[in-house]
Amino acid sequence: MRVLVTGGAGYVGSVAVEELVRAGEEVLVFDNLSFGHREAVHPVAEFVYGELADAQAIDGVVANYKPDVIMHFAARSLVGESVSKPFLYLRDNVNCGSNLFESAVAHGVDRIILSSTANLFGEPDRIPISEDEPIRPGSPYGESKYTLERSLQWLERMFGVRYACLRYFNASGASPERGEDHDPETHLIPLVLQVALGRRDHITIFGDDYATVDGTCVRDYIHVTDLARAHIAAMRALDHGSRTYNLGNGRGFSVREVIETAREVTGHPIPAIVGPRRAGDPAVLVASSDKIHREQGWQPEFADLRDIIETAWHWHSTHPHGYRE
Ligand code: UFG
Repeated sequence: MRVLVTGGAGYVGSVAVEELVRAGEEVLVFDNLSFGHREAVHPVAEFVYGELADAQAIDGVVANYKPDVIMHFAARSLVGESVSKPFLYLRDNVNCGSNLFESAVAHGVDRIILSSTANLFGEPDRIPISEDEPIRPGSPYGESKYTLERSLQWLERMFGVRYACLRYFNASGASPERGEDHDPETHLIPLVLQVALGRRDHITIFGDDYATVDGTCVRDYIHVTDLARAHIAAMRALDHGSRTYNLGNGRGFSVREVIETAREVTGHPIPAIVGPRRAGDPAVLVASSDKIHREQGWQPEFADLRDIIETAWHWHSTHPHGYRE
C-alpha cells in the first residue's frame, strides 16, 4: 500500500514510518520540520518538505502520490501551550487537518488515520477510560483534535471515507534508532533523562497536591513502537469499517514513580523539586485499550514502565544532543 504520512519526521510519526517500512509498505513523508527532524525519517521513505497550511502544496502531493491511506500525525500537541495560546491550536490544527482532508476527498483517498488524544476526556468520570467515556476536551489542544474527529465522521457520511481515530495516552520510550527530541522539551520522561545526562540540574514536579497515591499526577505511558504498531493494525482493519480506539498500557504511574524508576534505570540521583501545578493537567489519565485488544488482538509489548524508560535511556544516552549530533 502507498501511505502518505504527515508529520513523519516527528516523534510518533517517524516510528510509525519505521514500522510501515518494516511491514513492506511504500511511504511518503510530508513534513515542515518545524518540530520534526529530517534525520528521523527512515531512509527508504520518500520525503517532501512542505506546509499543511499551504492548501495547494498538500493538494499537489496528494494528487501526484495517489496514496491508498493517509496517516495524519502533524500537529501542535502541547496541552499546556494550548491553554496559553488557544487560537494557535484551534486555528492551526483544524486548518491544517481540513486542508489535508479536503485534498483526500478531492483525489479519492478514502482511508484516513488520525492521531487523536486522551485530552479529549478532560477530567474523566471513570478510570480506566474507555471509548464511550463522555468527551469533554481538557484544553484547546483536545478541542482541536475533537473537531478533526468529528470532521472525519462527516467525511464518512458524505463521501464514504473510512477513518480510524487513535487516541494516544502518553507516548514515550524509543526505538533503537528513533526517539523523542523536542526543542524546547516539555515532556516528563525526556526531561528526567536530561537530568541524568547532566544537561539539567533537577526536574520540577508540577504539583503534589492532587488526589492521587502520592499527590502527583498519574499518566498512562505507552511505548511509541506499540503505538506505531496499533496504527498498522488500525490501517488493516479499515477494510471492515471506521473505528476509534483508546491507546494506552492500562496502567497508571505517578510523576514520582516515573522519577524513581528513572533513578533505578540510570543510576543517577535525579534531584526533584516540587513546583506549582501546570494549567490544564488532569489528575489521572489511564486508558482502557480493551477494544483494540478485543477487535484487533493488539496489546502492548512494552507494558512495563521500566522497559519503556530503558528504551528511552538507551536512545538518549546514544543521542545526548538528540538528532543534532
Ligand atoms: N510533568 C512534571 N514536570 C515536568 C514535565 C511534566 O511534573 O517538567 C508532569 C505533568 O504535570 C504531567 C506528567 O508529568 O502530570 C506528564 O506530562 P507530559 O508533559 O510528559 O505529558 P502530558 O500528560 O501533558 O501530555 C501528553 C502529550 C499530549 C497528550 C497527553 C495525553 O504531550 O499531547 O499526553 O495524556 F494529549
